[in-house]
Amino acid sequence: MLHITKAAALRSSALAAAVAVVGSAAAAQGVTITYVSGAVGAAVENFDRLVAPWEERTGNDVVLVPMPASTTDQFGQYRLWLAAQNGDIDLYQTDVIWAPQLAEHFVDLTEAAAGIVDQHFPSIVESQTVNGRLVALPIFTDAPALYYRTDLLEKHGAEVPTTWAELTETAQRIQDAERAEGNSEIWGFVWQGNAYEGLTCNALEWIKSFGGGQIVEPDGTISVNNPQAVEALELAASWVGTISPEGVLAYQEEEARGVWQTGNAVFMRNWPYAYLLGNGEDSAVRGLFDVAPLPVGEGEGATSAATLGGWNVAVSRYGRNQEVALDLALYLASEEAQKQRAINEGNLPTIMSLYEDPEVLEANPYFERWQEVFLNAVPRPSAPTQNAYNQVSSLFWSAVHDVLSGNQSAADALEVLEADLEDLKGDGWQ
Ligand code: GLC
Repeated sequence: MLHITKAAALRSSALAAAVAVVGSAAAAQGVTITYVSGAVGAAVENFDRLVAPWEERTGNDVVLVPMPASTTDQFGQYRLWLAAQNGDIDLYQTDVIWAPQLAEHFVDLTEAAAGIVDQHFPSIVESQTVNGRLVALPIFTDAPALYYRTDLLEKHGAEVPTTWAELTETAQRIQDAERAEGNSEIWGFVWQGNAYEGLTCNALEWIKSFGGGQIVEPDGTISVNNPQAVEALELAASWVGTISPEGVLAYQEEEARGVWQTGNAVFMRNWPYAYLLGNGEDSAVRGLFDVAPLPVGEGEGATSAATLGGWNVAVSRYGRNQEVALDLALYLASEEAQKQRAINEGNLPTIMSLYEDPEVLEANPYFERWQEVFLNAVPRPSAPTQNAYNQVSSLFWSAVHDVLSGNQSAADALEVLEADLEDLKGDGWQ
């Protein structure tokens, strides 16, 4: 599935020639850079337009190799390529959680990015710094929202829920009332329940919002087996087959968005990319929804919790065109590219000034409120668990999936999970 995205038609040879004398990347004019990236939302469709200005300025081309939508599958593929020291791939688009596990395969960008890192939120740059090496440049950040149908809430005299209990109650009430009126396809709440990294994100939010910690704490303490986490998972399990379809256990982001965008859900948990698509011309919910922070749990330490997501670009140590690839990476992380992405894909920039940019805010009015959400977002425990993060996460999402499917009680699942995590930790998180 190789999708070639040349913007040759857009290139003016006069401009390319002019640029050739000024920059080092331009000196390598005519190079084709291979970029691998996830293929969720409008990312693939927008890619040609996103890279066209860089192609035009430098006289180089970019080929996009789209990856599976699941970040977990993508990680598996990247690991194979990197272990084989694949020289055909120049740039990898990387998830925020992968930096510690993949660091050794990527070029240190500290020096090349010295002039621009100050433009980005420091915590995001820090998340991509491993043992003092900047292994990837942030291109967008991610913090989820509760998407809600303004028309349905108004029709049924409901407020935007601020707690999970209110969400459960409101979702059930509107679902019942709508179905009674013949709206037979409607569901109360859709989210990501498939056994993959996305479920780790959803379940971390439930647990943290009930004051149940963040699976493994920043100091390495395994905290996941606690009564508040049990309570959170029990509530989520109660949604399956009531306010959420049984099928939610196989949903990733795009399946949830599919139900939502055909008008068949009152609430959805999803990332910012779903906002512009939901307001697209082909969307049944265009102009009929808004977003709010995710609801608060119950008990001591209850809070609204959003899992911190986000994507970066890393230069492969094995690529054959590292200098040109680095130039493209700097472009993709730049204000120009991040603004284009924010306006066309609805992604949250990592560049601070773009939160005051009128065009960015016009396209995504809620970004003004979201800076606070992502700056307080909960990181997954990729830093304390180092090379074992993927295993930690997969043990976690498997345990949660078992609970949601009714195969195990939350208390039993978390007890076993704790023991498994202790074993991994005992091996030095390797
Ligand atoms: C989003 C987030 C990413 C996360 C993934 C899970 O793409 O940005 O960090 O791992 O969703 O599905």
